Amino acid sequence: MTKTTLKSALAVAALFAGATVAQADESAQLVINGEIEMVTEAPAAAHLEGALTTVYSGWLFRDDATQAIQMDDFDNPGMLYVDQGAEMWATAEGTEGKSCADCHGDASESMVGVSATYPKWNEAAGEVRTVTMQVNDCRESRMGAEPYKYGGDDINALEAYIGFQSRGMPVNVAIDGPAAETWEQGRDLYYTRFGQLELSCASCHEQNYGNYIRADHLSQGQINGFPVYRLKNAGLVSVHNRFRGCIRDTRAETFAVGSPEFVALELYVSSRGNGLSIETPSVRQ
Ligand code: HEC
Ligand code: HEC
Repeated sequence: MTKTTLKSALAVAALFAGATVAQADESAQLVINGEIEMVTEAPAAAHLEGALTTVYSGWLFRDDATQAIQMDDFDNPGMLYVDQGAEMWATAEGTEGKSCADCHGDASESMVGVSATYPKWNEAAGEVRTVTMQVNDCRESRMGAEPYKYGGDDINALEAYIGFQSRGMPVNVAIDGPAAETWEQGRDLYYTRFGQLELSCASCHEQNYGNYIRADHLSQGQINGFPVYRLKNAGLVSVHNRFRGCIRDTRAETFAVGSPEFVALELYVSSRGNGLSIETPSVRQ
């Protein structure tokens, strides 16, 4: 062991010191409004062989009070943003005077399954696109409107509305064919050690989920409930902003929200959740 890896191994051990080896509460069942049953635990996809055998929703790792808020749409503050997204959907904007609804009709039909399969390869553009990228392309090239700020309040609300249309459907992103290269980039990033603490996403979310890091019960860092409502922020948080926060916690420089690196990481992290239900909007502390 070299000096630096020894040093970082000690720092990591200190970070997780005192960790109770608590397992995810496998008995908790996420049923929303007493009727919509969510899959919060699923066999890991084949591409996770050697990494994980079972994938767990982040909901399982939260305390009872936080879990309860997500179980009832009247209590879930994320639903206010879903309503706001519905209004945005129907509002004409830009030089073409068009709304999303003018082209896509009823989102409860046209947007079903979209968030379960994104990020996704777009053949015409020759790139993997997140939902944000696709929405902004519609705004710029079809509505004559300004793109939304990546990870900002507007796109978060609209994405909560779009994601909500897939609630209960299993995450099912494609990682083969033309998406494979981006997926591999994302996987490499996931295992890259960042910052003074030399921690990768996997150090925390693959090797230590179920353990406590300071006061936080570590999950697998799944993104099947994004954008999530965070009680601490009293608002929605996007996938890329969450990635940013996690990398910052390792005291490393981070990538920009909307950067190609985070798009690749989003595809990879989404694929780690294949089989879990879309929970948008989920609730976290
Ligand atoms: C003028 C018509 C038009 C308007 C207005 C429009 N779109 Fe689109 N949208 C399209 C077309 C056409 C496609 C398919 C193009 C493609 O695949 O590249 C598309 C694709 C999409 C997709 C991908 C769907 C999928 O199954 O992969 C999403 C999501 C989307 N639009 C969201 C929106 C949102 C949100 C708005 C409003 C902010 C909007 N669009 C406004 C025409 C429009
Ligand atoms: C030092 C440990 C640590 C590292 C390294 C780390 N995270 Fe996290 N992450 C956390 C903690 C703590 C939380 C909050 C508790 C939880 O949900 O696990 C969290 C939460 C998350 C969440 C929210 C999960 C949910 O259910 O809402 C995602 C997504 C996430 N991390 C992704 C990542 C990615 C991707 C990386 C690598 C770029 C990363 N994290 C690196 C500690 C870490």
